[in-house]
Amino acid sequence: MLAEVEALQASNAEELENLRIKYLSKKGAITALMADFRNVPAEQKKEVGIKINELKNKAQEKLNELREAFGSSDSEDNSIDITRTAYPIALGTRHPLSLVKNEIIDIFARLGFSLAEGPEVEDDWHVFSSMNFAEDHPARDMQDTFFVEAHPDIILRTHTSSVQSRVMEKQQPPIRIICPGRVYRNEAVSARAHCFFHQVEGLYVDENVSFTDLKQVLLLFAREMFGEDTQIRLRPSYFPFTEPSAEMDVSCTLCKGQGCSMCKGSGWLEILGCGMVHPNVLELNGIDSTKYKGYAFGMGVERIANLKYQVKDLRMFSENDVRFLKEFEAAN
Ligand code: PHE
Repeated sequence: MLAEVEALQASNAEELENLRIKYLSKKGAITALMADFRNVPAEQKKEVGIKINELKNKAQEKLNELREAFGSSDSEDNSIDITRTAYPIALGTRHPLSLVKNEIIDIFARLGFSLAEGPEVEDDWHVFSSMNFAEDHPARDMQDTFFVEAHPDIILRTHTSSVQSRVMEKQQPPIRIICPGRVYRNEAVSARAHCFFHQVEGLYVDENVSFTDLKQVLLLFAREMFGEDTQIRLRPSYFPFTEPSAEMDVSCTLCKGQGCSMCKGSGWLEILGCGMVHPNVLELNGIDSTKYKGYAFGMGVERIANLKYQVKDLRMFSENDVRFLKEFEAAN
């Protein structure tokens, strides 16, 4: 075995450790010889003892030699180079939709709006009926709804107006809330439409709330969001839950109203729907419409993000391509 030990070879720490286990560990071959030593006849003990010791020392020496031999050249060993500079820590970035959503919430928080959230899987009452959509009202067709199969009454919310209803049924005015959240509509996915997207909706109910208050708050929001020189305009529109209703445009963020390809030459970009809360909505949600009035508005987060960052394809927002997300590092 002496010759065998002398010829040992190892090229990395793992092989070396295997050799140590083979010969010198508790169950190793040399250890076994030493254990057998007591069975050696007395007259041979001296000679055998010397040989075993010699073998053990040789093995130890050889393993040390091998360790030193590749210790300096082998990069696979476990030694730590404490002089090496640290690997850079790769920080993640916030998703652009989160950035924009937080910015919207921040602006309204400064105006005294508090945050309210509700479930994405909703019942028909909170999404439609309590929002003044009549049972056979054609307005229900405006929003293609996903139904949860077993329950025709249970749907994925098509707008965050359902959160308005959930707050009003529990709380009397004054109510001043901002409701961010994901909504779902049964649309074919393309660059310009998606089956889910995000909204932020606002609601203010109190005594003596007027359309002027709504307009002023929205103007302030537009200027905080898109810059001080932003102009707004309100166009008459229709929603079952507001009367009167309007859609708001902001002066084009790219050409400042001169007319360009983004605003299709008009100088204006549509960004949200709004109006005075319909008295029926107040009554349906347990609020006295003779005493209180309210305004509401709702906007798409993707739409605002597109205007701020000119994202051409809506699908980018949900594909989680790291190259796309990294683009927003500076905005974090
Ligand atoms: N809920 C409307 C939508 O999804 C937006 C809206 C909210 C309009 C509040 C007016 C008032 O399109």
